[in-house]
Amino acid sequence: MPILEWLNKNEAINAASKVPYRILKANKEFSYGEKNENMIIKGDNLEALKALLPYYKGQVKCIYIDPPFNTGSAFEHYDDNLEHSVWLSLMYSRLELLRELLAEDGIILIHIDHNEEPYLRIIMDEIYGRANYRNTILVSRIKKNVRERERIKALNFGQDPILLYTKSSSTTFLPPLKYAPKANRWHNFEAAGIRKGMDYDLFGFKPNPNNHWRWTQERANIAIKEGKLRPNPKTGKPEYLIMASEFEIMDTNWTDLQASAFNWKFPNGEKSEKLVQRIIDLNTKEGDLVLDSFLGSGTTCAVAQKMGRKYIGIEMGEHAITHCVPRMKAVIDGEQGGISKSVNWQGGGGYTFYDLGETVFDEDGNINKDVDFKTLASHIWFSETKTPLLDFEKNPLLGIYNGTAYYLLYNGILGDKKPNGGNVLTQKIFDTLPKFDGKKVIYGEATRMNEDKRKLNNITFKQTPYDIKAR
Ligand SMILES: C[S@@+](CC[C@H](N)C(=O)[O-])C[C@H]1O[C@@H](n2cnc3c(N)ncnc32)[C@H](O)[C@@H]1O
Repeated sequence: MPILEWLNKNEAINAASKVPYRILKANKEFSYGEKNENMIIKGDNLEALKALLPYYKGQVKCIYIDPPFNTGSAFEHYDDNLEHSVWLSLMYSRLELLRELLAEDGIILIHIDHNEEPYLRIIMDEIYGRANYRNTILVSRIKKNVRERERIKALNFGQDPILLYTKSSSTTFLPPLKYAPKANRWHNFEAAGIRKGMDYDLFGFKPNPNNHWRWTQERANIAIKEGKLRPNPKTGKPEYLIMASEFEIMDTNWTDLQASAFNWKFPNGEKSEKLVQRIIDLNTKEGDLVLDSFLGSGTTCAVAQKMGRKYIGIEMGEHAITHCVPRMKAVIDGEQGGISKSVNWQGGGGYTFYDLGETVFDEDGNINKDVDFKTLASHIWFSETKTPLLDFEKNPLLGIYNGTAYYLLYNGILGDKKPNGGNVLTQKIFDTLPKFDGKKVIYGEATRMNEDKRKLNNITFKQTPYDIKAR
């Protein structure tokens, strides 16, 4: 397969695995509304995406990103004048992590422009696989005017391309019906052949001698009441309504939509809520998780909130605070701009704001002793199973995976707040743990159960923090 080469590509390929896991620190000051899973993270998305992996690997249904286009135009709020190879490296490492976060049946849409589209397409083929390229959607962009007789170097670029990829080549999604339904149509109620009892009088007509009516009289009476069977307005002959069961597949021409919007003082970057709504509608339903790691003014989170989706947004610029926070607060309070009216948005919901904290593992790969139970539990689970710890509960039994039960002994979880109380594996502590009849991996600070007893009980003991390794 042809691939793209650029300066320092090898570093870019390794960047995602090298970047450390960081703790996500909830920041109450900028969080708002009811407590739930929605997240807005301030920080570089390479680190933020990595921090999300132990919690959300394979969980995201729809990713929409609108990275800097690398056009060199002077945007007020972010630097998009990145040198070409730097841009490719930035994108490569993020796209790799995004792929890990994507659900098996998830889709990713990348908003780009003509400058980088061909390069992006090639690195996407490399990371996601050529078979997973599905579409290039086109949306309208602002057109430049010229003075009369002014010479130009190129025609107006009238559209922004948006690349659509899936994670798996078997992924299918239901085309949203509401955008291009075929009209219902009326059809002759007669069908060929003679059928007993199916030649009753209907609106003063009988079927032709070699034909019959399509439905029994009983069913016909119901259909008349439902408005699905009627006399043809011109001939008076019975006709029935064929409900459109097929819909045209939505095509890639979305030029009825403008890419940009100008509501939140984020010039040239802010995308329209209608566009993001149509994207989110492609493959998600209420409660599904949507992610945008180049959040800008917060459009994706605002739309996801209004559509009842869960969301994670990442933005490294100060506008995470100056734009996303006030915008999301307004949305949760029932703001009526963008798509609000069309979805009957009344407000509600909430999100937690996070900063990136210290690293979870030190340079030797040992876990930071000061992390809280949830972080510790999530990283233990992730390092053992390579899957996220879902349905987290404060319980020493973290879960069962491939026939093995994983436990974490942790101060306080077992009700004993004394130092070491409950962190050390003893027979007494073991007897209090939720039972599992099979292989058990138990993490704790130390063990005072001898090897024979551990063997007898099918226990592998691992010591925190030393036996928890970063990937
Ligand atoms: C084109 S804007 C996105 C606009 C957004 N779609 C909206 O509707 O407001 C790109 C954003 O990506 C952010 N960004 C660029 N590199 C980033 C990185 N490494 N980590 C996090 N955010 C980044 C920029 O600060 C900028 O806000």
